[in-house]
Amino acid sequence: ADHPLATTDPAWSTAASPLITAYRGGIPSRTPVWFMRQAGRSLPEYRRVREGIGMLESCLKPELASEITLQPVRRHDVDAAIFFSDIVVPLRLAGVDVDIVPGTGPVLGTAVRTAEDVAALPELSDESLEPIHEAVRLTVAELGSTPLIGFAGAPFTVAAYMVEGGPSRDHLGPRTMMHADPETWDALATWAADTAGRFLRAQLEAGASAGQLFDSWAGSLSLADYERFVQPHSARALAHVSDLVGADGQSVPLVHFGTGTSEILPAMRDAGAAVMGVDYRLPLGEAHRRLGASPGPDGRGAVPLQGNIDPALLDAPWAVLEAHVREVVESGRVAPGHVVNLGHGVPPGTDPEVLTRVVELIHSLRP
Ligand code: CP3
Repeated sequence: ADHPLATTDPAWSTAASPLITAYRGGIPSRTPVWFMRQAGRSLPEYRRVREGIGMLESCLKPELASEITLQPVRRHDVDAAIFFSDIVVPLRLAGVDVDIVPGTGPVLGTAVRTAEDVAALPELSDESLEPIHEAVRLTVAELGSTPLIGFAGAPFTVAAYMVEGGPSRDHLGPRTMMHADPETWDALATWAADTAGRFLRAQLEAGASAGQLFDSWAGSLSLADYERFVQPHSARALAHVSDLVGADGQSVPLVHFGTGTSEILPAMRDAGAAVMGVDYRLPLGEAHRRLGASPGPDGRGAVPLQGNIDPALLDAPWAVLEAHVREVVESGRVAPGHVVNLGHGVPPGTDPEVLTRVVELIHSLRP
Protein backbone atom coordinates (compact mmCIF):
# COMPACT_ATOMS: atom_id res chain seq x y z
CA ALA A 1 0.00 0.00 0.00
CA ASP A 2 1.14 3.53 -0.70
CA HIS A 3 2.55 5.34 2.27
CA PRO A 4 1.34 8.96 2.51
CA LEU A 5 3.84 11.50 3.76
CA ALA A 6 3.35 13.80 6.73
CA THR A 7 2.93 17.10 4.85
CA THR A 8 -0.66 16.71 3.71
CA ASP A 9 -1.91 20.15 4.91
CA PRO A 10 -2.88 21.81 1.58
CA ALA A 11 -1.64 25.22 2.79
CA TRP A 12 1.83 23.70 2.98
CA SER A 13 1.59 21.59 -0.10
CA THR A 14 4.43 21.80 -2.60
CA ALA A 15 2.53 19.68 -5.15
CA ALA A 16 1.70 22.68 -7.40
CA SER A 17 5.19 24.18 -7.16
CA PRO A 18 7.14 24.72 -10.40
CA LEU A 19 9.72 22.12 -9.30
CA ILE A 20 7.32 19.28 -8.59
CA THR A 21 5.20 20.11 -11.65
CA ALA A 22 8.25 19.90 -13.94
CA TYR A 23 9.53 16.72 -12.25
CA ARG A 24 6.13 15.17 -13.05
CA GLY A 25 6.37 16.19 -16.69
CA GLY A 26 3.85 19.05 -16.51
CA ILE A 27 4.07 22.72 -17.52
CA PRO A 28 5.12 24.81 -14.49
CA SER A 29 4.09 28.42 -13.77
CA ARG A 30 7.74 29.43 -14.19
CA THR A 31 10.89 27.63 -15.30
CA PRO A 32 12.23 25.98 -12.13
CA VAL A 33 15.90 26.19 -11.18
CA TRP A 34 18.11 25.16 -8.26
CA PHE A 35 21.84 24.45 -8.01
CA MET A 36 23.70 21.45 -6.68
CA ARG A 37 25.91 22.75 -3.85
CA GLN A 38 23.86 25.96 -3.70
CA ALA A 39 24.50 25.95 0.05
CA GLY A 40 28.18 26.25 0.78
CA ARG A 41 31.36 28.16 0.40
CA SER A 42 30.18 30.51 -2.37
CA LEU A 43 27.99 32.23 0.25
CA PRO A 44 29.54 34.62 2.84
CA GLU A 45 26.61 33.94 5.18
CA TYR A 46 27.53 30.23 5.02
CA ARG A 47 31.19 30.87 5.81
CA ARG A 48 30.10 33.01 8.77
CA VAL A 49 27.86 30.39 10.45
CA ARG A 50 30.32 27.55 9.75
CA GLU A 51 33.25 29.34 11.45
CA GLY A 52 34.99 26.96 13.89
CA ILE A 53 32.50 24.11 13.26
CA GLY A 54 33.48 20.96 11.35
CA MET A 55 31.51 19.97 8.25
CA LEU A 56 29.95 16.79 9.68
CA GLU A 57 29.33 18.45 13.07
CA SER A 58 27.39 21.22 11.30
CA CYS A 59 25.27 18.62 9.48
CA LEU A 60 24.31 17.07 12.84
CA LYS A 61 23.19 20.33 14.52
CA PRO A 62 19.56 20.59 13.34
CA GLU A 63 19.21 24.39 13.74
CA LEU A 64 22.46 25.04 11.90
CA ALA A 65 21.80 22.53 9.11
CA SER A 66 18.35 24.07 8.63
CA GLU A 67 19.70 27.64 8.56
CA ILE A 68 22.35 26.70 5.95
CA THR A 69 19.71 24.90 3.84
CA LEU A 70 17.56 28.07 3.79
CA GLN A 71 20.35 30.57 2.99
CA PRO A 72 20.47 30.06 -0.81
CA VAL A 73 16.65 30.08 -1.06
CA ARG A 74 16.50 33.50 0.63
CA ARG A 75 19.36 34.89 -1.42
CA HIS A 76 18.71 33.51 -4.93
CA ASP A 77 14.94 32.81 -5.01
CA VAL A 78 15.67 29.30 -6.29
CA ASP A 79 12.71 26.92 -6.72
CA ALA A 80 13.96 24.33 -4.23
CA ALA A 81 16.10 23.90 -1.18
CA ILE A 82 18.44 20.91 -1.02
CA PHE A 83 18.95 19.53 2.44
CA PHE A 84 22.34 20.54 3.86
CA SER A 85 24.05 17.28 4.67
CA ASP A 86 26.51 14.98 2.95
CA ILE A 87 26.55 11.54 1.38
CA VAL A 88 28.73 10.28 4.28
CA VAL A 89 26.48 11.63 7.08
CA PRO A 90 24.56 8.30 7.32
CA LEU A 91 27.92 6.49 7.66
CA ARG A 92 28.84 8.72 10.61
CA LEU A 93 25.35 8.20 12.11
CA ALA A 94 25.76 4.43 11.78
CA GLY A 95 29.06 4.64 13.68
CA VAL A 96 31.59 4.38 10.83
CA ASP A 97 34.80 6.32 11.53
CA VAL A 98 34.56 8.98 8.80
CA ASP A 99 35.29 12.69 8.57
CA ILE A 100 35.24 15.36 5.89
CA VAL A 101 38.63 16.98 5.48
CA PRO A 102 38.37 20.54 4.10
CA GLY A 103 39.73 20.76 0.56
CA THR A 104 39.94 16.94 0.33
CA GLY A 105 36.56 15.35 0.99
CA PRO A 106 35.41 12.25 2.92
CA VAL A 107 38.21 10.29 4.64
CA LEU A 108 37.73 7.03 6.60
CA GLY A 109 39.71 5.97 9.67
CA THR A 110 40.17 2.56 8.04
CA ALA A 111 39.34 1.52 4.49
CA VAL A 112 36.78 -1.28 3.96
CA ARG A 113 38.47 -3.92 1.82
CA THR A 114 37.73 -7.48 3.00
CA ALA A 115 34.67 -9.66 3.66
CA GLU A 116 35.42 -9.28 7.41
CA ASP A 117 35.53 -5.47 7.09
CA VAL A 118 32.11 -5.50 5.40
CA ALA A 119 30.60 -7.95 7.89
CA ALA A 120 31.70 -5.65 10.73
CA LEU A 121 29.89 -2.57 9.32
CA PRO A 122 27.34 -1.23 11.84
CA GLU A 123 23.69 -0.90 10.82
CA LEU A 124 22.07 2.53 10.56
CA SER A 125 19.27 2.63 13.16
CA ASP A 126 16.08 4.71 13.01
CA GLU A 127 16.93 6.42 16.34
CA SER A 128 20.28 7.68 15.04
CA LEU A 129 18.43 9.51 12.26
CA GLU A 130 16.63 11.81 14.73
CA PRO A 131 18.88 14.87 14.02
CA ILE A 132 18.01 14.47 10.33
CA HIS A 133 14.28 14.30 11.08
CA GLU A 134 14.51 17.39 13.24
CA ALA A 135 16.55 19.45 10.76
CA VAL A 136 14.10 18.58 7.96
CA ARG A 137 11.06 19.47 10.12
CA LEU A 138 12.56 22.86 11.01
CA THR A 139 13.40 23.52 7.37
CA VAL A 140 10.05 22.64 5.77
CA ALA A 141 8.26 24.74 8.42
CA GLU A 142 10.20 27.78 7.13
CA LEU A 143 10.00 26.90 3.43
CA GLY A 144 6.18 26.82 3.15
CA SER A 145 5.31 26.01 -0.47
CA THR A 146 8.95 25.86 -1.65
CA PRO A 147 9.93 22.19 -1.86
CA LEU A 148 12.85 20.64 0.00
CA ILE A 149 14.86 18.04 -1.89
CA GLY A 150 16.28 15.20 0.18
CA PHE A 151 19.20 13.16 -1.11
CA ALA A 152 21.52 10.24 -0.60
CA GLY A 153 24.76 9.01 -2.10
CA ALA A 154 24.36 6.06 -4.45
CA PRO A 155 25.98 2.75 -3.44
CA PHE A 156 28.86 2.97 -5.95
CA THR A 157 29.89 6.51 -5.08
CA VAL A 158 29.71 5.89 -1.32
CA ALA A 159 31.43 2.49 -1.58
CA ALA A 160 34.17 4.12 -3.67
CA TYR A 161 35.08 6.32 -0.67
CA MET A 162 34.83 3.34 1.68
CA VAL A 163 37.09 1.02 -0.33
CA GLU A 164 39.66 3.72 -1.16
CA GLY A 165 39.49 5.17 2.37
CA GLY A 166 39.17 8.62 0.78
CA PRO A 167 38.77 10.43 -2.53
CA SER A 168 40.41 8.95 -5.63
CA ARG A 169 40.46 9.85 -9.28
CA ASP A 170 39.90 6.52 -11.03
CA HIS A 171 38.19 4.50 -8.26
CA LEU A 172 40.46 1.53 -8.94
CA GLY A 173 39.80 -0.04 -5.51
CA PRO A 174 36.05 -0.59 -5.88
CA ARG A 175 36.36 -1.42 -9.58
CA THR A 176 38.95 -4.09 -8.82
CA MET A 177 36.82 -5.48 -5.97
CA MET A 178 33.79 -6.00 -8.25
CA HIS A 179 35.73 -8.42 -10.39
CA ALA A 180 38.24 -9.86 -7.92
CA ASP A 181 35.85 -10.45 -5.03
CA PRO A 182 32.28 -10.03 -6.32
CA GLU A 183 30.71 -11.43 -3.13
CA THR A 184 32.38 -8.85 -0.93
CA TRP A 185 31.47 -6.12 -3.42
CA ASP A 186 27.87 -7.29 -3.39
CA ALA A 187 27.73 -7.26 0.42
CA LEU A 188 29.29 -3.79 0.64
CA ALA A 189 27.06 -2.29 -2.05
CA THR A 190 24.00 -3.87 -0.39
CA TRP A 191 24.99 -2.24 2.92
CA ALA A 192 25.50 1.09 1.16
CA ALA A 193 22.13 0.76 -0.63
CA ASP A 194 20.20 0.09 2.59
CA THR A 195 22.04 2.87 4.43
CA ALA A 196 21.31 5.36 1.62
CA GLY A 197 17.70 4.21 1.39
CA ARG A 198 17.08 4.73 5.12
CA PHE A 199 18.79 8.15 5.08
CA LEU A 200 16.65 9.28 2.13
CA ARG A 201 13.47 7.85 3.62
CA ALA A 202 14.07 9.75 6.88
CA GLN A 203 14.22 13.04 4.95
CA LEU A 204 11.08 12.28 2.92
CA GLU A 205 9.09 11.13 5.95
CA ALA A 206 10.06 14.31 7.80
CA GLY A 207 8.74 16.51 4.98
CA ALA A 208 11.08 16.64 1.97
CA SER A 209 9.06 16.72 -1.29
CA ALA A 210 11.50 15.05 -3.68
CA GLY A 211 14.69 13.01 -3.51
CA GLN A 212 17.93 12.86 -5.46
CA LEU A 213 20.33 9.94 -5.66
CA PHE A 214 23.89 11.18 -6.29
CA ASP A 215 26.05 8.68 -8.15
CA SER A 216 28.69 11.30 -8.80
CA TRP A 217 31.45 8.90 -9.82
CA ALA A 218 29.40 6.35 -11.82
CA GLY A 219 30.95 7.78 -14.98
CA SER A 220 34.16 5.90 -14.24
CA LEU A 221 32.37 2.58 -14.94
CA SER A 222 31.91 0.74 -18.21
CA LEU A 223 28.31 0.12 -19.21
CA ALA A 224 28.77 -3.62 -18.59
CA ASP A 225 30.15 -3.09 -15.08
CA TYR A 226 27.45 -0.52 -14.32
CA GLU A 227 24.68 -2.91 -15.35
CA ARG A 228 26.11 -5.92 -13.55
CA PHE A 229 27.60 -4.48 -10.36
CA VAL A 230 25.92 -1.15 -9.68
CA GLN A 231 22.46 -0.72 -11.19
CA PRO A 232 20.77 -3.40 -9.01
CA HIS A 233 22.13 -1.72 -5.87
CA SER A 234 21.00 1.76 -6.93
CA ALA A 235 17.59 0.24 -7.67
CA ARG A 236 17.61 -1.26 -4.16
CA ALA A 237 18.36 2.15 -2.60
CA LEU A 238 15.52 3.77 -4.58
CA ALA A 239 13.12 0.94 -3.66
CA HIS A 240 13.38 2.03 -0.01
CA VAL A 241 11.27 5.11 -0.89
CA SER A 242 9.27 4.07 -3.96
CA ASP A 243 6.09 3.52 -1.88
CA LEU A 244 6.01 7.13 -0.64
CA VAL A 245 3.33 9.47 -2.01
CA GLY A 246 2.97 13.24 -1.65
CA ALA A 247 0.01 15.44 -0.72
CA ASP A 248 -1.48 14.96 -4.20
CA GLY A 249 -1.41 11.17 -3.87
CA GLN A 250 1.27 10.80 -6.54
CA SER A 251 4.59 9.11 -5.91
CA VAL A 252 7.43 11.28 -4.68
CA PRO A 253 9.63 12.45 -7.60
CA LEU A 254 13.11 10.90 -7.54
CA VAL A 255 16.07 12.24 -9.51
CA HIS A 256 19.16 10.18 -10.42
CA PHE A 257 22.38 12.08 -11.17
CA GLY A 258 26.02 11.36 -11.90
CA THR A 259 28.89 12.93 -13.84
CA GLY A 260 30.44 11.53 -17.00
CA THR A 261 27.33 9.38 -17.46
CA SER A 262 26.72 9.92 -21.19
CA GLU A 263 27.22 6.23 -22.02
CA ILE A 264 25.28 4.81 -19.07
CA LEU A 265 22.36 7.25 -18.91
CA PRO A 266 19.67 4.76 -20.09
CA ALA A 267 21.02 2.11 -17.69
CA MET A 268 20.85 4.61 -14.84
CA ARG A 269 17.27 5.48 -15.79
CA ASP A 270 16.41 1.79 -15.59
CA ALA A 271 17.36 1.84 -11.88
CA GLY A 272 13.92 3.41 -11.44
CA ALA A 273 14.04 7.16 -10.75
CA ALA A 274 11.45 9.25 -12.63
CA VAL A 275 13.81 12.12 -13.50
CA MET A 276 17.37 12.03 -14.87
CA GLY A 277 20.04 14.56 -13.97
CA VAL A 278 22.41 15.31 -16.86
CA ASP A 279 25.94 16.62 -16.46
CA TYR A 280 27.43 19.38 -18.62
CA ARG A 281 29.11 16.98 -21.09
CA LEU A 282 25.90 15.89 -22.84
CA PRO A 283 23.52 18.39 -24.50
CA LEU A 284 19.96 17.92 -23.20
CA GLY A 285 18.66 17.18 -26.70
CA GLU A 286 21.12 14.30 -26.98
CA ALA A 287 20.27 13.04 -23.47
CA HIS A 288 16.60 13.06 -24.46
CA ARG A 289 17.38 11.18 -27.66
CA ARG A 290 19.41 8.53 -25.82
CA LEU A 291 16.72 8.02 -23.18
CA GLY A 292 13.86 7.98 -25.68
CA ALA A 293 15.68 5.53 -27.94
CA SER A 294 15.97 3.00 -25.13
CA PRO A 295 12.65 2.52 -23.37
CA GLY A 296 12.96 1.16 -19.83
CA PRO A 297 11.52 -2.11 -18.50
CA ASP A 298 8.20 -0.38 -17.90
CA GLY A 299 8.19 0.84 -21.51
CA ARG A 300 9.08 4.36 -20.45
CA GLY A 301 10.97 6.31 -23.05
CA ALA A 302 11.64 9.99 -22.59
CA VAL A 303 11.81 11.25 -19.01
CA PRO A 304 11.91 14.71 -17.40
CA LEU A 305 15.46 16.05 -17.28
CA GLN A 306 17.45 18.16 -14.83
CA GLY A 307 20.55 20.15 -15.81
CA ASN A 308 22.94 21.13 -17.24
CA ILE A 309 24.63 24.56 -17.15
CA ASP A 310 28.42 24.16 -17.34
CA PRO A 311 29.79 25.36 -13.96
CA ALA A 312 32.91 26.63 -15.75
CA LEU A 313 30.81 29.28 -17.48
CA LEU A 314 29.70 30.87 -14.18
CA ASP A 315 33.06 32.65 -14.27
CA ALA A 316 32.79 33.73 -17.94
CA PRO A 317 31.66 37.21 -19.09
CA TRP A 318 27.90 37.68 -18.58
CA ALA A 319 27.12 37.73 -22.32
CA VAL A 320 28.78 34.31 -22.72
CA LEU A 321 27.01 32.86 -19.68
CA GLU A 322 23.66 34.35 -20.71
CA ALA A 323 23.84 32.79 -24.18
CA HIS A 324 24.70 29.40 -22.64
CA VAL A 325 21.85 29.57 -20.10
CA ARG A 326 19.36 30.49 -22.85
CA GLU A 327 20.59 27.53 -24.92
CA VAL A 328 20.20 25.13 -21.98
CA VAL A 329 16.61 26.32 -21.35
CA GLU A 330 15.83 26.09 -25.08
CA SER A 331 17.28 22.58 -25.44
CA GLY A 332 15.37 21.39 -22.35
CA ARG A 333 12.08 22.04 -24.15
CA VAL A 334 12.37 18.65 -25.92
CA ALA A 335 11.94 16.80 -22.61
CA PRO A 336 8.53 16.17 -20.98
CA GLY A 337 9.71 18.36 -18.07
CA HIS A 338 12.87 20.34 -17.39
CA VAL A 339 14.37 21.62 -14.14
CA VAL A 340 17.39 23.84 -14.74
CA ASN A 341 20.50 23.07 -12.69
CA LEU A 342 24.24 23.00 -13.15
CA GLY A 343 26.01 20.05 -14.74
CA HIS A 344 27.76 19.58 -11.38
CA GLY A 345 28.05 21.54 -8.12
CA VAL A 346 28.59 25.29 -7.63
CA PRO A 347 32.38 25.87 -7.58
CA PRO A 348 33.38 27.35 -4.16
CA GLY A 349 34.84 30.50 -5.78
CA THR A 350 31.61 31.42 -7.62
CA ASP A 351 30.35 35.01 -7.24
CA PRO A 352 26.91 34.53 -5.62
CA GLU A 353 25.57 37.59 -7.47
CA VAL A 354 26.11 35.73 -10.74
CA LEU A 355 23.94 32.86 -9.45
CA THR A 356 21.16 35.29 -8.46
CA ARG A 357 21.31 36.83 -11.95
CA VAL A 358 21.15 33.39 -13.59
CA VAL A 359 17.99 32.59 -11.57
CA GLU A 360 16.41 35.92 -12.66
CA LEU A 361 17.22 35.18 -16.29
CA ILE A 362 15.75 31.67 -16.14
CA HIS A 363 12.58 32.94 -14.45
CA SER A 364 12.18 35.54 -17.22
CA LEU A 365 12.07 32.82 -19.91
CA ARG A 366 8.72 31.22 -20.73
CA PRO A 367 8.29 27.76 -19.17
O1 CP3 B 1 23.90 22.40 -1.47
C1 CP3 B 1 23.93 21.16 -1.63
O2 CP3 B 1 24.08 20.63 -2.74
C2 CP3 B 1 23.60 20.26 -0.43
C3 CP3 B 1 24.64 19.75 0.34
C4 CP3 B 1 25.57 18.67 -0.15
C5 CP3 B 1 26.89 18.58 0.35
N1 CP3 B 1 27.45 17.43 -0.12
C6 CP3 B 1 27.50 19.54 1.27
C7 CP3 B 1 28.97 19.64 1.29
C8 CP3 B 1 25.36 17.57 -0.99
C9 CP3 B 1 24.13 17.20 -1.79
C10 CP3 B 1 26.56 16.80 -0.95
C11 CP3 B 1 26.73 15.50 -1.64
C12 CP3 B 1 28.09 15.00 -1.88
N2 CP3 B 1 29.14 14.91 -1.01
C13 CP3 B 1 28.48 14.39 -3.08
C14 CP3 B 1 27.59 14.21 -4.28
C15 CP3 B 1 27.46 15.46 -5.05
C16 CP3 B 1 28.67 15.88 -5.83
O3 CP3 B 1 29.17 16.97 -5.55
O4 CP3 B 1 29.11 15.11 -6.69
C17 CP3 B 1 29.81 13.98 -2.93
C18 CP3 B 1 30.66 13.29 -3.99
C19 CP3 B 1 30.21 14.30 -1.61
C20 CP3 B 1 31.52 14.05 -0.94
C21 CP3 B 1 32.17 15.33 -0.58
N3 CP3 B 1 31.80 16.07 0.51
C22 CP3 B 1 33.17 16.08 -1.28
C23 CP3 B 1 33.86 15.61 -2.53
C24 CP3 B 1 33.37 17.28 -0.57
C25 CP3 B 1 34.28 18.43 -0.95
C26 CP3 B 1 35.55 18.50 -0.16
C27 CP3 B 1 36.17 19.89 -0.26
O5 CP3 B 1 36.24 20.55 0.79
O6 CP3 B 1 36.55 20.29 -1.35
C28 CP3 B 1 32.52 17.26 0.54
C29 CP3 B 1 32.37 18.30 1.55
C30 CP3 B 1 31.14 19.12 1.42
N4 CP3 B 1 29.87 18.61 1.34
C31 CP3 B 1 31.07 20.53 1.44
C32 CP3 B 1 29.70 20.87 1.36
C33 CP3 B 1 29.09 22.24 1.41
C34 CP3 B 1 32.25 21.49 1.56
C35 CP3 B 1 32.70 21.55 2.98
C36 CP3 B 1 32.79 22.94 3.56
O7 CP3 B 1 32.09 23.87 3.09
O8 CP3 B 1 33.54 23.06 4.52
